[in-house]
Amino acid sequence: MAHDEPTDAPESGWRRETIARLALGGGLLFAGGWAYLALRLVRSAPRQASRAIRTGLRPGAIGRAIRTFPMAFLFRGRGREVVALDRRCTHLGCRVRASSGGDQLLCPCHGSRFDRQGKPLRGPATRPLRRLRTSVDSRGEVVIHVED
Ligand code: FES
Repeated sequence: MAHDEPTDAPESGWRRETIARLALGGGLLFAGGWAYLALRLVRSAPRQASRAIRTGLRPGAIGRAIRTFPMAFLFRGRGREVVALDRRCTHLGCRVRASSGGDQLLCPCHGSRFDRQGKPLRGPATRPLRRLRTSVDSRGEVVIHVED
């Protein structure tokens, strides 16, 4: 008995087309999933961007008066140490400024106040201003390191 060859009936063409479409859709979903995961991985990678603020000041030129730079305050603390504070308010990031007497640091956005050590005196900010690292460059001048 001779075996009949499968015919190219319209129903089998429809099946092949459906399977091909499903395979294509699955492949696109798979590739999209990997692209999404790769994007999330890149975005969640810790950023270690650091900016250096060249103050142009020798350590001996830094006194008790607060010097204001675009991203930081710089002054000499009680223990004669050089203090650098991040000017970004710990509430929502507005730029903090020094009071006229220089005894407090004030946020113009929602009224937070900090003492000279960056400790919050009045909210809504509850966390202290960030202390920044300083170093002395090859010219003998203080550099402030701001990290994101
Ligand atoms: S951003 Fe400073 S108090 Fe809100």
